[in-house]
Amino acid sequence: MEIDRVETGLPGLDELLKGGIPEGNVVLVSGESGAGKTTFCSQFLWKGLQEGENCMFVSFEEPSSQIKKEAKLFGWDFEKYEEQVNFKTKDPFEKEDEELFWFRNELERKDIDRLAIDSTSILTLYHEDPYEIRKAIYEMIKTIKETGTTAVITAESPSGSERLTRHDVVQYAVDGVIALYFQGVGEKGYRSLQVRKMRKSDISTETVSFEITDKGIDVGQSIV
Ligand SMILES: Nc1ncnc2c1ncn2[C@@H]1O[C@H](COP(=O)(O)OP(=O)(O)O)[C@@H](O)[C@H]1O
Ligand SMILES: [Mg+2]
Repeated sequence: MEIDRVETGLPGLDELLKGGIPEGNVVLVSGESGAGKTTFCSQFLWKGLQEGENCMFVSFEEPSSQIKKEAKLFGWDFEKYEEQVNFKTKDPFEKEDEELFWFRNELERKDIDRLAIDSTSILTLYHEDPYEIRKAIYEMIKTIKETGTTAVITAESPSGSERLTRHDVVQYAVDGVIALYFQGVGEKGYRSLQVRKMRKSDISTETVSFEITDKGIDVGQSIV
């Protein structure tokens, strides 16, 4: 059976995904700080805007103005698409006692085709109890799935560790996992990525190199 796929808009990645992310899938993009997670989110939503889709960018880390400014450097001028894209941001330290899932209503009310959440790691600040954290993350992913939107959610990989995320529940609850890696080599860094899981897809799980250029993420060749 043919399934509908959503093109990510990242050159080279859609080939690995055999056309794109299956519609309605929630995909985790993991990586250390500087790995390219925020760039991935912007590039993914920018593609959606070009396709005439409604998009939402939920940021737990940076103000919308900063995300837009950085995106513009890649040539993605979100200001031109105000009707189609909704930026939601909140300083996690500002209102600690508030509802963790503060964008829930917005998400459920609107007809959102593409969603990016950057990053879920900050959710750990809302709870001390690991059980509560796992529960909160699980419930958020479940609600996103119920809306039918195709989503990219990011999580920070603990530095210098093999682990993709601090809380493994994220990896189990999502439909797909794309791991971004960064290795510093002298002055230059070396970037690679791997699609580790994608439900409903016969994906290529090879590790491939990628670059971040002035046009964004550009996925290259497989690493042997
Ligand atoms: N124009 C550019 N050319 C090359 N690399 C860039 C450019 N703009 C940003 N970068 C790289 O992208 C990285 C930022 O990635 P980002 O998506 O913010 O990472 P994360 O969200 O995972 O912390 C920067 O560290 C920088 O190395
Ligand atoms: Mg970031």
